[in-house]
Amino acid sequence: MTTTETSAIVLSSFADAKDAYRQKELRQSLYDEGEVVMADVLVNLHGAEHRSRRRAENRMFRRETFDRYERDLFPGVIEQTLAPHLEAGRADLVHLGHELMLNLAALTAGVDRPEGTAEENRRLYDYMMLFIQGATLAHSTQDKDEQRALILQALVDWDTEFLTPSAQHRRALLNQHTAGELDDEDLPKDVLTTLLRHEEELELSWEVIRREVAFFLLAGAHTSATAFVRSIDHILSWVQEHPDDASRVTGDEMFVQRCIHETVRLNPSSPVGRRRALAPISLKSGVEIPEGATVVIDLQAVNRDPAVFGEDAEAFNPYRELPAGVAPFGLSFAAGMHVCIGQDLAAGVVPAADADPDSHLFGLVTVAVQHMFNAGVATDPDHPPQRDSNTARPYWGTYPVLLGG
Ligand code: HEM
Repeated sequence: MTTTETSAIVLSSFADAKDAYRQKELRQSLYDEGEVVMADVLVNLHGAEHRSRRRAENRMFRRETFDRYERDLFPGVIEQTLAPHLEAGRADLVHLGHELMLNLAALTAGVDRPEGTAEENRRLYDYMMLFIQGATLAHSTQDKDEQRALILQALVDWDTEFLTPSAQHRRALLNQHTAGELDDEDLPKDVLTTLLRHEEELELSWEVIRREVAFFLLAGAHTSATAFVRSIDHILSWVQEHPDDASRVTGDEMFVQRCIHETVRLNPSSPVGRRRALAPISLKSGVEIPEGATVVIDLQAVNRDPAVFGEDAEAFNPYRELPAGVAPFGLSFAAGMHVCIGQDLAAGVVPAADADPDSHLFGLVTVAVQHMFNAGVATDPDHPPQRDSNTARPYWGTYPVLLGG
């Protein structure tokens, strides 16, 4: 189905959305109002510029790196982050999710925290929350000019406090590498190291490196953090209605991963994709897109397309059967040139029927959610969850839970 709204062409069928994502003449335009953080970052580039930056960054987003994060680094990070909340017997899932995923995103982006203190973490967390506001400025319900100025200042302060020292450390390692004193595998596997290594060839200014690392910090943390909260919310309701599945939530990681995928399908991190036509385009279905038109991909509708997901497409059902070639998370990670670089890191690999759980990649959201159910997460009857009133998007503002019950 297609509708035209104030000069935008809205695509809401799965087939049209997939076709549109693959069109090379459709250019990114989702972040036009979020330039303060998003100007010249990977997801905003097009054509040859996008290809060369993506090729350089793909080198670190590989299966071996994901395995290392999931098996070696992340379990310790979760335990450490969760410990004070377990002791208190309660947590706010919204805050905890961002705290957890920030720890991960700082590792992948290449932002060091030399003090290793809770106070230092809090400062980085506050910066990241401002960067998130910057990227999603189009949906803000507050004064946008005021927010833009605040966010620009935050970028500069964060640079002085965190980014410049992280870059100095990495430049020293890269010099040692050039001198033959360090092997490739001894260099950090993070975005900042990758960018510094290819700085000249990619013609990167310091301001672009600054925004790119800030973007990875928010892209890695925010999307996974919201998926974390929403997955726990869906699973708690599912288990209430299907008590027989209670044991699967603690003992069957494949089942938990299916719940994560189903959550991500129903709640794409951005409810729409947006593109601008650089030339006239005809989609396979016959939809004509004139040059200059804005195309809105209504992911919320696309991922609930009954022609693909069945008559109960609106419902959460981890046992859903899918047609061949359709991912269980629908198009929530997009497709085509901007397909999410962190998809496998966040949500793992879609398992084959004979997948071996011992070597399977479950994704960090699955691992984190599984930890929460092992820790006995339950809703707090005295403090019901509340929606976030600062944005028009459907985010939870607070989600208090009890632990260890
Ligand atoms: C549940 C988690 C996640 C969801 C739902 C998600 C979703 C998406 C979507 C929809 C896009 C395409 C945006 C567009 O074309 O308009 C995207 C791109 C991207 N994502 Fe994710 N993402 C997730 C996790 C992550 C993580 C963990 C990272 C980094 C570690 C990451 C980094 C990126 C980057 C760098 C791009 C831009 C890719 C490009 O333009 O070539 N994402 N993501």
